[in-house]
Amino acid sequence: MTTTRSAPSEVLRNDYQKSVAAYWNKEKDPVNLRLGDVDGLYHHHYGIGEVDWSVLEGPADTREERIIAEMHRLETAQAEVLLDHLGNVGPDDRLLDAGCGRGGSSIMANERFGCSVDGVSISEQQVEFANKEASRRGVADKVRYHFANMLDTGFETGAYRGIWNNESTMYVDLFDLFAEHSRQLSFGGRYVTITGCYNDVTGGRSKAVAQIDQHYTCNIHPRSKYFSAMTANNLVPISVVDLTAQTIPYWELREKSSVATGIEGPFLQAYREGSFHYLLIAADRI
Ligand SMILES: C[S@@+](CC[C@H](N)C(=O)[O-])C[C@H]1O[C@@H](n2cnc3c(N)ncnc32)[C@H](O)[C@@H]1O
Repeated sequence: MTTTRSAPSEVLRNDYQKSVAAYWNKEKDPVNLRLGDVDGLYHHHYGIGEVDWSVLEGPADTREERIIAEMHRLETAQAEVLLDHLGNVGPDDRLLDAGCGRGGSSIMANERFGCSVDGVSISEQQVEFANKEASRRGVADKVRYHFANMLDTGFETGAYRGIWNNESTMYVDLFDLFAEHSRQLSFGGRYVTITGCYNDVTGGRSKAVAQIDQHYTCNIHPRSKYFSAMTANNLVPISVVDLTAQTIPYWELREKSSVATGIEGPFLQAYREGSFHYLLIAADRI
């Protein structure tokens, strides 16, 4: 498949999607760009795993550099865990990175499995950036990014062995999203998401969760909705991993860094009070 060139009016369905696209088109946040510059893998998601707190020690003039490299290592570790859940993927398979950002996870999937990956984003700037990176790395024949809406990609039916959303489900209706994923996955194909979701047990959206929504112009879903929307669309969960405890140290480090954006407090509060979880869900298409 060649990269698609669509007009914004074909891709962006409504004013909300236009505002999300505008946010990502102008986004040049150092927390994403400086971390990506470490090794050319650009992520727009959070990290997991044990922090090496020794990065806070040592010479002051290189402290920031050490913190940035450590945060990037944790974000890459998060994507590795997502890819671990895609199951058996061979070089002839096709994968879809839905809401791909600047494309780091797609590059990692191609490196790991040798397969083709299509990434889609509603941000034209991200798609252009990601395609340049794929060319620079010499993988543009296998990793292609498209300016497309993940709710209606126009891609082939049943063509994908795996599809993932890495922190991109909170911008869309889950029933619409999973209907489109279900259409594109082959029978037995695997779907994986890593996402923040709010806790049905503690009640509705907490104040901290509402602050996160406002910060990112997104709409965090309750945990329950992931499962009802999957069930309604022939996606049967096989793994559910609560990554909350594993992401808190990343946020604690990020709060101490020069690239903190101000949203660290609400994330830490939401996770610590239990109103919000960081979940991985993997499901099979039946
Ligand atoms: C937080 S970023 C995550 C990026 C990437 N998955 C990663 O892990 O680095 C959210 C992404 O979702 C994309 N997005 C939001 N709504 C979308 C839609 N309806 N169709 C395609 N992409 C969408 C945004 O453009 C952005 O790239």
